[in-house]
Amino acid sequence: MQGKKVLIAPSILDSDLSDIGGTIRKLDHIGIDRIHIDVMDGHFVNNLSLGPHSILSARKHTKTTFETHLMISSPRRYIKEFANAGSDIIVFHAEAERQIESTIRMIKGCKTRAGLALNPNTSVKSVKQYLGKIDTLLIMGVHPGFGGQRFISKSLVKIKKARDMIDRLGCETVVAVDGGINPDTARLAIEAGADEIVAGSAIFRSKDIKKAILGLRKIGEQELMVRNLGFKDRRVL
Ligand code: DX5
Ligand code: ZN
Repeated sequence: MQGKKVLIAPSILDSDLSDIGGTIRKLDHIGIDRIHIDVMDGHFVNNLSLGPHSILSARKHTKTTFETHLMISSPRRYIKEFANAGSDIIVFHAEAERQIESTIRMIKGCKTRAGLALNPNTSVKSVKQYLGKIDTLLIMGVHPGFGGQRFISKSLVKIKKARDMIDRLGCETVVAVDGGINPDTARLAIEAGADEIVAGSAIFRSKDIKKAILGLRKIGEQELMVRNLGFKDRRVL
């Protein structure tokens, strides 16, 4: 079931990483639902980014939920480290791990919520058996590795499929969308059934971070109303 609120999760990859503490305090002050932290290993994706030490440093500045998105090969090797660093949710890629079920168990064993991420070419059907066992299904709107890419529109079909399957199962799994999110694609993704919007460049490359976040929040409220109350005309909202 889609919740009462669309969760807003800024991805700090595109923020000024020399002042991670300042950024996080600012986000807390504006009001966000979780902070999305992208971890890349130069192997699963063609880029390198943050590691457990950055998460540990960031943790000192906030109690906000940290969603750690592991874009790394063999994620099992590092689950404990990322949990101990202060992650609240650990998301790994279905394409990166053969032992999906035991990895989910391993994450939960670390008293951390578990999420599964799907690249644009991976179907929702291929992970159907895990949908009731995870807390978050992260649907990529771009091929992972870099911020600022264009949203791949076929991801909307996957969001819709995930929404339907999760609703049919009657579980609380959050459907999140990550990559290529801007006000237009956010609207479409929420309309398709997303519960959580991850946004990097739309927030951190904007002139006014607060305005960008509040704009996405407003879109979330409007689209939920459209869905829940069946408003057809958005101009009245
Ligand atoms: C992509 C990352 C995303 C990325 C989002 O590989 O997983 O979280 O930072 O950035 P935007 O919103 O700019 O696509
Ligand atoms: Zn991400």
